Amino acid sequence: MAKEIHTIGVLTSGGDAPGMNAAIRAVVRQAISKGKKVKGIKRGYAGLLQEEIEDMEAKHVSDIIQRGGTILQTARCLEFKQPEIQKQAADICRKHGIDGIIIIGGDGSFRGAQRLAEQGINTIGLPGTIDLDIACTEYTIGFDTAVNTAMEAIDKVRDTSTSHERCSIIEVMGRHAGYIALWCGIANGAEDILLPEKYDYDEQKLVNHIIANRQRGKKHHIIVNAEGIGHSTSMAKRIEAATGMETRATILGHMQRGGSPTCKDRVYASTMGALAVDLLCEGKSNRVVGYQNGEYIDFDIDEALSMDKRISEYQYEICQTLSI
Ligand code: ADP
Ligand code: F6P
Repeated sequence: MAKEIHTIGVLTSGGDAPGMNAAIRAVVRQAISKGKKVKGIKRGYAGLLQEEIEDMEAKHVSDIIQRGGTILQTARCLEFKQPEIQKQAADICRKHGIDGIIIIGGDGSFRGAQRLAEQGINTIGLPGTIDLDIACTEYTIGFDTAVNTAMEAIDKVRDTSTSHERCSIIEVMGRHAGYIALWCGIANGAEDILLPEKYDYDEQKLVNHIIANRQRGKKHHIIVNAEGIGHSTSMAKRIEAATGMETRATILGHMQRGGSPTCKDRVYASTMGALAVDLLCEGKSNRVVGYQNGEYIDFDIDEALSMDKRISEYQYEICQTLSI
């Protein structure tokens, strides 16, 4: 028989993402509605190891659904990769009566969740990252807000770029994943997108494209460059020298990680948060919540982490085609 959960812990880990607060609120209130106790763990796995653990009641999550960031704070904790530290963390959970834990973060955080599950703590992961780079789900908490923030910023850069007939390189977040760049490329009508998964570092091709567009009368040339390619400022200098077109670089940076979550991020994060509690109450462990084909579903973490996610070839192609 599945073990009954009495106390649920919740933490956020890795990069923060708008909508994490909506997920925390849902976890706390769904758990309370099912007669469970909730403990908030501060600063991810680092805070767990430091026993930064506090009781959470319904009132502790009031007025947060609309706020970016995470009220639980977040951290990266490299020592959590060590087996003896993971065992220590599980003992701390037991000491505080936490028999189920919900971990909101990305792939790395899920690996930590897997280890805690192996140590006998029931765990459920929620996909929280602006990068959209979790293979088992078409949606991750924060992506919608981040990509809309980036899109609005790029629209603004485009206005001035057109007025001055310039080339603009706009760097968006995504060290290993090009989803923000791809979506902005399509949404902002960029002339070029540089994605870590795709870019061949053939700068001459970019230069030729800029010159050809210029000759066809284009008044600007927008290049959306993912952080994983980076070096936007030096690239701008080289492109200006090679094309004769004034070129500026804008690095959007961490503004993409903040701000009030969109309606979509609030609704999906709330639903996922409640579902994570339901799964724990059903006795499930070592699962992650995802969204696919219009449904909220859960996967075994091992299975989820072994899945592969690829940039859509079709969307990558049309991004170029539609900006002619
Ligand atoms: P994200 O969760 O957004 O992918 P990270 O990759 O930085 O972010 O991972 C967040 C945290 O998860 C790490 O700082 C570490 O505490 C934990 N973690 C990452 N990888 C592992 C692993 N292989 N084993 C145990 N814990 C891990
Ligand atoms: O959370 C994901 C992400 O924003 C990536 O897109 C980016 O590469 C990384 O986090 C940046 O992390 P840091 O907060 O350490 O600068």
